[in-house]
This record gives sequence, C-alpha cells and structure tokens, in this order.
Amino acid sequence: MEHLVTRSEIDAAAHYVREHTHHHPEFGLVLGSGLATLAEAVEDPDFIPFHEIPHFPVSSVQGHSGRLVIGKLEGRSVLVMQGRVHFYEGYSMSQVTLPIRMMHVLGIHTLILTNAAGGINRAFKAGDVMLITDHLNLIGMAGQNPLRGPNDETFGPRFPDMSQPYDGGLRDLALQVATHNRIDLKQGVYICLAGPSFESPADVRFLRAIGADAVGMSTVPETVVARHAGMRVLGLSGISNSLAGEEAGPETTHEEVLEAGRILVPKMMTIIRGVLPPA
Ligand code: HPA
Repeated sequence: MEHLVTRSEIDAAAHYVREHTHHHPEFGLVLGSGLATLAEAVEDPDFIPFHEIPHFPVSSVQGHSGRLVIGKLEGRSVLVMQGRVHFYEGYSMSQVTLPIRMMHVLGIHTLILTNAAGGINRAFKAGDVMLITDHLNLIGMAGQNPLRGPNDETFGPRFPDMSQPYDGGLRDLALQVATHNRIDLKQGVYICLAGPSFESPADVRFLRAIGADAVGMSTVPETVVARHAGMRVLGLSGISNSLAGEEAGPETTHEEVLEAGRILVPKMMTIIRGVLPPA
C-alpha cells in the first residue's frame, strides 16, 4: 500500500531538526548524484544524518551520502540535503517529498534543487549545467503525483497552480551570475522518469519529441510539493552524460554520472552562491 506521510510525521521531523541545530535556515539546497561535495562550502555546519530524523527517508544509493548539513553560505542560513531518496528505491512520492515539506515547516522559503541528468538536447554535452525553465511531470501524468491523497490545506490548495514552477526572478539571477562568471549556462525542460533503468534509444527519441531537454529521476515531485506550499524554486541539472545519439549509443553508467559531478560542482557552486542574496 502507498505510504502517505502525515502532518504529525512531518512536524516530528522538523522538531528533531530544530532541536539539533542553532541555525534558522531560510534557503534549502538539495544535492543530486555526484554533487555532494557542494556541501563542503557550508560554514559553521551542523550535521544530522537522515537516519536519525524521525520518519525521514534514507537513501541506499552510492553517491547519496544522506545527511543534512545546516550552516552558512554567503552569510545566509542554508539547509543542505547531502543526498536524497528516489521513487525507484521503493518509497512513495509522499515519502520522497517529506524533506521538502519539512523544510517548509522549518521556515524555508526558497529551494534550490540540483540533479544529475542525461542530455536529450543535441546541443548539450557531459559537464554542462542546465537551468531548468520548466518540467514535464510524466510520472505525475501517469498517476504518481506527490499530492495524491487527502489535501492538507495548511500546506496549500487541492488544485495548485503550476504555471510557473521555476521562479522567473531566480532564473534571471542565475543567468546573470553565469554570464558574469563566463559559465555557458544552458536552459531547458527537465523530465522526471521513475528509473532506475536508463533510457533505450526509442525512449530518448520519444522524450525529445515531447519536448524534453534533459532526463532524470528526481526534482519534479519536489518542485510540485514546494510550489504547493508557495516556496520559490530554482532548478539546476548537471548534464552527466549525453543521450543525443540516435541509435544505440555508448552505455550509460552510474560511475559516469558520479564522475561528471566533479566537473559540474565548481560551476554549480558559483551559480548557487551567486543567487543567494547578500545577507
Ligand atoms: N537518464 C536518467 N537519469 C539520469 C541519467 C540518464 O541518462 N543521467 C543521470 N541521471
């Protein structure tokens, strides 16, 4: 049976985090596969392993170490998720997005979501960073929307607007920061699939035909839940591998995804630091 997380479970998780940090984070940052080292820049950090937090989903995947790092970045209080869980691990969408609701309860108003993604757009190569302009919620369309189930009005409305999933102001800022730092920031539509198998050549042609520029296994459910609760969202995809080949291309491996992270991290960090408003 699908596990629907309750308000009291989310509150219990938030309570635990409040008791274990002296910071009052306003910005949330979720680090995708191969991007965990971004958390090393956090100053005066408090560390909270996911498994210690009541009801918190715990990841089994290599490259997702699984802890909160709460501290300062550019003088702002941030809560960083070093790793996340995915739907393919067997968690429900409600469990996958518990951390986002917990962040909302903690008072976080702005969320920066990062992920590793396969490049569908032929102009993208491994190591590029893509600013997410919009998303395709294919799993949601197929019935796996994280808001399925009773609606909690204290988070947001039953039928939330999704006309502006990724905040226009934050996107403009990210583009300015990229230009200023000579980073070739790509832009495009991210599509979330359930995974864990990577895409077949026919899958890739289908995804391109329906308007996707990059494909991954996260982010969209988190964005939906964050927008439901009125949080501002910035999404950044690190292109870890190109799926642009028409026919059977090179194999995609998890190692390749983690390796590309090392090239992506400095660019991502520059953009993330740049969008945080001066304290
Ligand atoms: N497909 C799906 N998810 C991914 C990929 C990919 O090629 N690379 C990184 N995450």
